[in-house]
Amino acid sequence: MTSSELRQKYLEFFASKSHAVIPSASLIPENDPTCLFTTAGMHPLVPFLLGEKHSAGSKLTSCQKCVRTRDIDSVGDEVHLTFFEMLGNWSFGDYWKREAIEMSFEFLTKVLGFPIEKLAVSVFAGDADADFDSESFEMWKSLGIPENRIAKLSKKENWWGPAGATGPCGPDTEMFFWNSDEKIPGSFQETHEDSRWVEIWNDVFMEYEKTADGKFIPLKQKNVDTGMGLDRVAAILQKVPTVFETDLFAPIVAKIRDLAKTKNERSERIIADHLRAATFIIGDERGVSPSNVDAGYIVRRLIRRAIREARKLGFDFNQTFTTIIAEVVIENFGEAYPELVQNSAKILLELEKEENQFKKTLEKGEKWLRNEIERKRKTFSKDEIFLGSEEFFYATTAFYVFETYGFPLELSIEIAKEEGLKIPKDIEEEFKKKMQKHQEKSRTASAGKFAGGLADDSEAVAQLHTATHLLNAALRKVLGEHVSQKGSNITAERLRFDFSHPEKMTPEQKVEVEKIVNEAIQKSLKVSCEEMTVDEAKAAGAMGVFDSKYGEKVKVFSIGGSTSSHSTSSGQAGQVFSREICGGPHAKNTGELGRFKIKKEESSSAGVRRIKAVLISE
Ligand code: ALA
Repeated sequence: MTSSELRQKYLEFFASKSHAVIPSASLIPENDPTCLFTTAGMHPLVPFLLGEKHSAGSKLTSCQKCVRTRDIDSVGDEVHLTFFEMLGNWSFGDYWKREAIEMSFEFLTKVLGFPIEKLAVSVFAGDADADFDSESFEMWKSLGIPENRIAKLSKKENWWGPAGATGPCGPDTEMFFWNSDEKIPGSFQETHEDSRWVEIWNDVFMEYEKTADGKFIPLKQKNVDTGMGLDRVAAILQKVPTVFETDLFAPIVAKIRDLAKTKNERSERIIADHLRAATFIIGDERGVSPSNVDAGYIVRRLIRRAIREARKLGFDFNQTFTTIIAEVVIENFGEAYPELVQNSAKILLELEKEENQFKKTLEKGEKWLRNEIERKRKTFSKDEIFLGSEEFFYATTAFYVFETYGFPLELSIEIAKEEGLKIPKDIEEEFKKKMQKHQEKSRTASAGKFAGGLADDSEAVAQLHTATHLLNAALRKVLGEHVSQKGSNITAERLRFDFSHPEKMTPEQKVEVEKIVNEAIQKSLKVSCEEMTVDEAKAAGAMGVFDSKYGEKVKVFSIGGSTSSHSTSSGQAGQVFSREICGGPHAKNTGELGRFKIKKEESSSAGVRRIKAVLISE
């Protein structure tokens, strides 16, 4: 079965079960500042899982473009992908577990023809937040899945969501296919981690909402959210060992092999995955071009890593190649995603620009490195920073040229060898250590940074950014604790702030919010910043995104109150007006801000309001 047949059969199957087929939403989420990309089919549907009415009804199905960047460094192995397509079906307070499982089973066994003995499933085992999912367990049994092929697993495995820090989530039941000719093991409970069991589909029963304080409260309605990985299922149906041999990737990999002088599967996969993802992100209806911030930075990294891998494969660097690969991607996916064809000129232009720019940078790096080696040779002394001795090439130099010119370690080593230097045995290890430190630093800088982005770091922008925090706190005081940030965009002239609230604000509410913000400005409250772990931030009552890794440090900005957010303070002077996880920049004191004025309050999307406001100098 081809991938396009799989897409079609899935959507047709659920259409025949009275689901409305909806098109894929953009890869760039419109109302979720906590994520740079759409990561699942349910992502654009969050308002409807929370109870909004969808115009197409209470049963939907789609094939959604997704990008996940968490595993970006694992790409190159057999399974990890940056961009992928997720087939899904949803019930918003309509059908529940029995029907969802029945339909999944019918699709797998009847439409795809998977033999029942090659299937296994897992269900939620239960814990303090929610009970064992006996209903799903019994349902699978009644359909003929033997008990030893049903694993009961914990929250770590069998709970899905929320997609961001808060939102709809719940226990899930996952379906696995034994993708091997070897004997199928008896107990799935014992063997579910065996990689020959390929997870193909996930039915999530979203009946909870995770709140900012980590509690699970029942949702207004019981929802079903499912997700099937198109690439993986295509590999099974096409009987190929990895997704890179499916019809989704084969033409791309073939083109890469045409251009390469040497063969290396890992490099081929990285180039194929990264340039497919970059093509989709740039060519999206809300496309993003390579840059140094947020989603743009991810695209830049994808393209640059592909270029480095291409160098390893001996591509002819006198010719632009990212465009050649992108053309194959557009050709292969243009029918399913016409925006790629419509935006092809833009895709090719952006890729060409980025490739040329990066190649120039690489050239400069090489020149710098050769000069540096030459210079050190001439002026060698014991305490050299870059080269420890005349004979050796050290990780410090390699890392410097990587940081400054994006120059890969292998390339530095190659050049150093050409220059007659010796390479210390631990250079890779040392380089990795420096890299880890560097990544920690940049993660800290970007953690809690809202994707809405700031136009620049000017004083005006910093002041409007601080005003945004005041506004966020004031809205929660006036409208209630349900208000949470959904987006933010700041230019030197104005702030724009999207937040969850079900209805238009009244004129009185707007006046009250302005009053509270202006009072905070008049009090000349100090704005302070502290670095702490996410748990400490939570404990200190900070608002914001809590999806950073455990132990990772984030910046917390407090307006008013004592500097240390760990100390409890009492009395007017010590009270904190606002505390948020955020990347900055901010004004030092609210007294700098001038007068705050709301210019407009309007609807942004379902359940989300938008305020545009300015600061007027007095
Ligand atoms: N939203 C669920 C997932 O991504 C279906 O696995």
